[in-house]
Amino acid sequence: MIPQSFIDSLLARIDIVDVIGQSVPLKKAGVNFMARCPFHQEKTPSFSVNPQRQFYHCFGCGASGNAISFIIQHHGSGFVEAVQMLAEQAGMSVPQDSGAGPATPSGHDAHRPLLEALERVGKFFVKERLRHPRAQAYLAQRGIREDTAESFGLGYAPPGWHNLETALPDIPTAILHDSGMLVSQEAGRHHDRFRDRLMFPIHDRRGRIIGFGGRVLDQGEPKYLNSPETPLFEKGQELYGWPQARQALRQQHEILVVEGYMDVISLSQAGIAETVATLGTAITEHQIKLLFRSAERIVFAFDGDKAGRKAADRAMERVLPLLEEGKQVAFLFFPEGEDPDSFVRQHGADAFRAQMVGATPLSTHVLDHLTAGLTRHQPESQGQFLHRARPLLASLRAPWLAFALKKRMAQWLDVDNEQLEQFLGNLPTEHRPSPKPPNAPLRSRQPPPSLARQLLACLLAQPELAHEAGVPQEDRFATGDDERAVQRIAEHLRHEDVVPPLAALIEHFRHHPDEALLTSVLQREFIALAETPREELVAVYRDGLLRWAQQACQREIQQLSQQGDVEGLRQLLALRKSLDLQLKTRNQGNDSV
Ligand code: CTP
Ligand code: MN
Repeated sequence: MIPQSFIDSLLARIDIVDVIGQSVPLKKAGVNFMARCPFHQEKTPSFSVNPQRQFYHCFGCGASGNAISFIIQHHGSGFVEAVQMLAEQAGMSVPQDSGAGPATPSGHDAHRPLLEALERVGKFFVKERLRHPRAQAYLAQRGIREDTAESFGLGYAPPGWHNLETALPDIPTAILHDSGMLVSQEAGRHHDRFRDRLMFPIHDRRGRIIGFGGRVLDQGEPKYLNSPETPLFEKGQELYGWPQARQALRQQHEILVVEGYMDVISLSQAGIAETVATLGTAITEHQIKLLFRSAERIVFAFDGDKAGRKAADRAMERVLPLLEEGKQVAFLFFPEGEDPDSFVRQHGADAFRAQMVGATPLSTHVLDHLTAGLTRHQPESQGQFLHRARPLLASLRAPWLAFALKKRMAQWLDVDNEQLEQFLGNLPTEHRPSPKPPNAPLRSRQPPPSLARQLLACLLAQPELAHEAGVPQEDRFATGDDERAVQRIAEHLRHEDVVPPLAALIEHFRHHPDEALLTSVLQREFIALAETPREELVAVYRDGLLRWAQQACQREIQQLSQQGDVEGLRQLLALRKSLDLQLKTRNQGNDSV
């Protein structure tokens, strides 16, 4: 644990403009500095750094934070790593909070001998690859060019039981052992773990070798052998190919996750460099978080076999609780017997990219998963559907995704949204002893966005709606500030003859009391809407307007009944009835789609 007081003084010592300026070309604009956002692709700068508040914010993608968050987001480093990096720059040394947490020696020094040993072992394997025709021939047969092999540091562990000690006599045996390169036998004897295998070094995010995978060159078993867990190498923490992918990620903002070493290498060689692999295990929460920090869209590619389907289900379960609005996830399945490597070799990079574009969006995949093997309109199937849906919905954190999913679920079940809520609510998830997927803890759900926020988000995404569908009518007895703010913003849109671009709207409300709501809706609900088709937006907006009117009407009814205004009440009750009816017909209309 790093004491908070240290973090405070670190933040006071450094200047966010320097920190960000090292990797992003900042231009002064008034009190702020502006740039094209490093976290998403854009043509005009919407990334601003405020030196007074020592804070950055992107109006395009909603990324924001202080200097530490920037290092974390931009370099994909952990919190401690980020603090250490900044402290080094500021000439401060990071103290440890005694007592709190295990007293780990600063990772760097404790691990140095292991890292150095692995680096040298890696070089040895590369040299061996270059002088063994057997290894060369294998790579050639798999279509791997020399420059690719070099950039991934591919090597060859020659046959024999004691090559490492012979080749690297000055590395202590204990170090070779602790780094996972030797296997112990009885009576203190040991031998090389990897023999006659093609060697794939596994790098950490800073590009240091922390382990190896080794593949047989012919039909032997096991096909792949990996380093055991060591102080440096923990499966589930690392993603294979990260250092090579990172460069590409600067431009891409989309990352492809595959299953195997050869998939990464082959895709990278074909020009799809933003690819990493999970080292043959189901993706972990930690890995998903890493991916989300560096990319807006994750495409998971799975082999078209049973194991691939299973891995996809695990990925879906683990990604749902971690998905934040503004992030996208899609799934790509290959036909039985094919994998990304074979596909790209056969069909080329363009065809592969087309596959990535057309990958199944998470929401569709979830629905496919829920309905697999079920018959629509059949009661047993509907029960099974709800049974599958409940834990998934309970794990969701992104309110908008929950909203959109429920809408589609209601459609499949052929019920309206309220009925669906009832079905879901009748059997609360908390009481079900069903096994919940490991690593996907049930999180407390964020409250769904208020109606006012949803309406505003629709308007920001489709400002023409203010003209075409109208704006939320005045709600005299509305209680919240958000309602009034949304009305003001909507009115502003309605009075503009030409629909203003988003930037102009933001500019108009800068330093205005409604700025806070506008910004926060832009960061959350608006971003989540980016992919929503226009028709759906229009439907949500029109629906929302009706609900708004209904709520306003209800509040007025309450007021008038207190005042005893019978004639007024009669009119209002008639209005409410007509609103209820309109909503109902709209919902039925939607259901029959
Ligand atoms: N894997 C492993 N141990 C095994 C089999 C597989 O660690 N015994 C991991 C490896 O990281 C491998 C990944 O799971 O890259 C995917 O396995 P698979 O699809 O069988 O291999 P490919 O990557 O397709 O390898 P190749 O094309 O060389 O056959
Ligand atoms: Mn393969």
